[in-house]
Amino acid sequence: MFPDINGIETPAFASLQQHAETWKTQHMRALFDQDPTRFDRFSFHQEGMLVDFSKHMITDETLTLLTDLAASCQLKEAMDALFSGEPVNRTENRAVLHTALRDQSDRMVVVDGEDVKPAIRQVLEKMRLFCNEIHAGIRTGADGRSYTDVVNIGIGGSDLGPAMVCEALKPFHKKGIRVHFVSNVDATHLVECVQDLDPATTLFIIASKTFTTQETMTNARSAKQWFLESGMQEEDIARHFVAVSTALQEAQAFGIDPDNIFGFWDWVGGRFSLWSAIGLSIMLAIGADGFDSLLNGAYAVDEHVRTAPLNKNIPVIMGLLGWWYNQFFEARTHAVLPYDQYLEKFPAYLQQADMESNGKRIDRRGKEVSYPTGPVVWGAPGTNGQHAFYQLIHQGTQLIPCDFIVPARSQNPLGDHHAILLSHCLAQSEAMMKGKTAEEVREELEHSGMTEEEIQFQLPYRVFPGNIPSTTIIVPECNAFQLGQLIALYEHKIFVQGVLWNVFSFDQWGVELGKKLAAKILPEISGRKEPSGHDGSTIGLIKEVLRLRS
Ligand code: F6P
Repeated sequence: MFPDINGIETPAFASLQQHAETWKTQHMRALFDQDPTRFDRFSFHQEGMLVDFSKHMITDETLTLLTDLAASCQLKEAMDALFSGEPVNRTENRAVLHTALRDQSDRMVVVDGEDVKPAIRQVLEKMRLFCNEIHAGIRTGADGRSYTDVVNIGIGGSDLGPAMVCEALKPFHKKGIRVHFVSNVDATHLVECVQDLDPATTLFIIASKTFTTQETMTNARSAKQWFLESGMQEEDIARHFVAVSTALQEAQAFGIDPDNIFGFWDWVGGRFSLWSAIGLSIMLAIGADGFDSLLNGAYAVDEHVRTAPLNKNIPVIMGLLGWWYNQFFEARTHAVLPYDQYLEKFPAYLQQADMESNGKRIDRRGKEVSYPTGPVVWGAPGTNGQHAFYQLIHQGTQLIPCDFIVPARSQNPLGDHHAILLSHCLAQSEAMMKGKTAEEVREELEHSGMTEEEIQFQLPYRVFPGNIPSTTIIVPECNAFQLGQLIALYEHKIFVQGVLWNVFSFDQWGVELGKKLAAKILPEISGRKEPSGHDGSTIGLIKEVLRLRS
């Protein structure tokens, strides 16, 4: 049974609340000065990856109390329920089994009395065959030429994960094939993408779990139209359009050859679906073996999560730390700062994974929560962010925990670029943790020969309080295996936090209202129906658009 306990009801909560008070006067700097083993004790290795938690506002006592809290929330039991296929997505009455998609063990995973793993293997095999044939030039476009471009049409989980992974693994792409992603219903996205493509060497993947998502279906229809208007024939569609969906009949009704439909299952959540056939674009980009490595990296983390004790469990600690800052330090946002240009899309991917999961206000008992839940997740690659928003992290008034992610080796070794990048990454986490005291500022200013009067004016502006917590994740290089690990770490972190907050992390009812209202506004804004039944602002805006378009 999935537990139903939230963190604030556990015995550890009161102790943590008291313990949090000690951090009003404690500084991480002092803890590092007192304890030369702090880095070793609070950092963890996992299959080549190092995760350093030592620059967090924690002591041994903090970690013990936090893991006590997790244990009281029956986190281990919740994980077992997740891994074993219990319907943990209660409001949709579904299991949540992205872990089964990458499970390399012999264990069965049973849903509704049936082991799901043979079907997973079957689809993977079908994907592998399809991609291998394309890479080998055996499967070609209608005129016999090899495909040069793949366009994935999807949105949300059917776009962000594959787009992020394809970008992150660009150095590992197969030669001769380019992968593009079209998600926005703004026609600009599709038009800009296809304008330089040759339809005879382009393969469209229509990726939609439901095959009803308005944006995706609109883009898919327009892509088909572009294809036919560019001189291709109806009978060519079978060789140029494939689908990835749980809705096989809808995909077929769209005109996709049943042999070209890659299925998956309702127990794969959209934002956790890149490991399923939704990853077809990834496999086309990096090959079947590369996709296997991605799955293997995630599986390694799944095994770690399943077996490591709570106080050595990396995603559990990540989740607990987020909970700690959110609950006691009013940290309402979390910055993800990859120092790797290839990970540019990682923060955007995580936004959906995290915010669609834990952006919830009703607990698992149907009651409104009395505590903060999911934070705003945001970020951009370093060093760019340093010249944009880091000022607020260093000297603003809110506490923003940060994750620094950096590969030790660059895929593009060029002069001292990577050493500079690394130096900035490590310097930022050091600066956030240490800050700069008034004494240090004074000494610096005195040394520069500044007058006492000017020093007194300048000094407060140049002090950094520090004590800003950060996790640093170092990977040897950003390859498929390490990326699989990285993504899985965050997926599990999100799950852990959902348990601590006692919310259902796997539904997303909040996105429905806007969709319904848009359906009502569409005929009104198209001039087919008189606007009615809206608030004054919305009516006014509709009328202004109608006026400007008339
Ligand atoms: O609107 C939100 C959402 O349902 C996401 O959860 C999902 O990833 C996305 O839309 C796309 O859905 P689909 O894959 O069914 O087109």
